[in-house]
Order: sequence, then C-alpha cells, then structure tokens
Amino acid sequence: MERRVEVLADQAALVNRALALILERVTTAIAQRGVFTIALAGGSTPKPLYEAIAQQNLAWDKIHVFWGDERYVPPDHPDSNEGMARQAWLNNVPIPVENLHPMPTDAADPIVAAERYEQQLQAFFHLAPGEFPVLDVVLLGIGDDGHTASLFPHTEALQVRDRLVTVGNKGGQPRITLTVPLINKARCILFLVTGANKQHALRQIFAPVGDEMQYPARLIQPAGELWWLLDAAAGEGIAV
Ligand code: 6PG
Repeated sequence: MERRVEVLADQAALVNRALALILERVTTAIAQRGVFTIALAGGSTPKPLYEAIAQQNLAWDKIHVFWGDERYVPPDHPDSNEGMARQAWLNNVPIPVENLHPMPTDAADPIVAAERYEQQLQAFFHLAPGEFPVLDVVLLGIGDDGHTASLFPHTEALQVRDRLVTVGNKGGQPRITLTVPLINKARCILFLVTGANKQHALRQIFAPVGDEMQYPARLIQPAGELWWLLDAAAGEGIAV
C-alpha cells in the first residue's frame, strides 16, 4: 500500500495521532478476530506513546504484545526495550502476563534466542513451517543511519528472508530482530520519527531510488498500511 506521511507539530501531536491510529486498529482487530497483536519499537521515541496507551481503558485480556527488536541485555538493563515498555506502559495496566511476549536475551548464543522467539511466534500464531504471522500493528523507528528495528546498514540480517526472527548487529553488539518479510506482513506499520537528526535518513528512505543496504528502512514495503508520523523537526523539507 502507498505510504502515508503526516507531519505533526510536535511530539505531543505525534503521540496523539499515533494513539488514535492504534486505538482504531485495536477496536477493529478485536471486533474481527477477537485479539489485537502489536510489536513494539524500542529506543526513546515511542516512550511517550507507551505512557499514553497506559492511560487507556482497553480490553487488555485481548491484547498481545510482542517486540520488534531487542538489545541483547537483561530486561532490567537500562538499554532494554522490554524494560522501557514495561516501565512506561505494561507494568501500569492489568494486562495478563501471558499476553506479554518479550524477546529472550538469556541464552549464551543470540542465535538460540532468535530461534526460541521464532518458535514462540510459530506456537502463538499456529504457523506451519515457513509461514509468516500477520501482526495487526508493528511500531518502528529509524536511526539517523536509516536503520529500523535492529536491521542495520550492510548487515546480514537485511538479507534474511526465510526466518521470522534473526540476529541483528549494531557495531558488533548483537540484537534480536524481526525480519524484513515478517515486518512486511503486518496489517499496519507505523513509523514514529522525531528530531532534525533524522531528516537526512528520511530523505534517503523516501527517495524514489536508493540503496536499501545503506538505508534499511527502505526495505519496509508492506502490503498493508504504511504510516510515517513525523514531527516538524524531522519532517522539515520532506516532500509529503
Ligand atoms: C532500538 C530500536 C531502533 C529505534 C531507532 C530510533 O532498539 O533502538 O528499535 O530501531 O527505533 O534506533 O531510536 P530513537 O527513538 O531512540 O531515536
């Protein structure tokens, strides 16, 4: 589907818009399928959105939370995406513990952790071998280098097409990440981008022609909805 780009005045307006889009899809998913599934972005941008979601009165028992990527640290580590989402949102709502599906980071080998998460997804979504799950919403951010999730420029993770989960690599540091084909299966992908430091990457990602290996967010081309919510600082000068 064609990407939809919206430039919002500031972070608060971006959070409100993202929240509205998510709540619409929560309602639709639960009405149609009895469950809503979402994969969370890490980093700093989504934190105020997670805090806003925590203020909502939702059918928490019908909401299942996954992660799009994870730093290879324990959940109580300051860099943990799981830890950030729990602190900002999940510890503050009555969501059943079995509805939370964090990426494991306790195996000695990150490859084993990626395989375990893939098995968890296959079990939850009742997938046949080789089948990809369809998540209702995948939240993503971008780095100023054009990465998304833990799909970093010129890394092997960008090429993985036959797995649901793989090991990302940020300057030698292992990450666990959903793969490009899994992300692209989502019903709705929502990029949240704030800050002038993201302008250059955005221009390269939005350019009609470019290098997907250099700007991996270019690989995110879902059949479903593709939303880019930018604040004014990130969106300045971006043709929408
Ligand atoms: C992560 C994220 C990553 C993030 C971007 C943007 O684990 O860091 O999943 O892809 O979305 O790096 O991070 P900021 O929101 O902190 O700019």
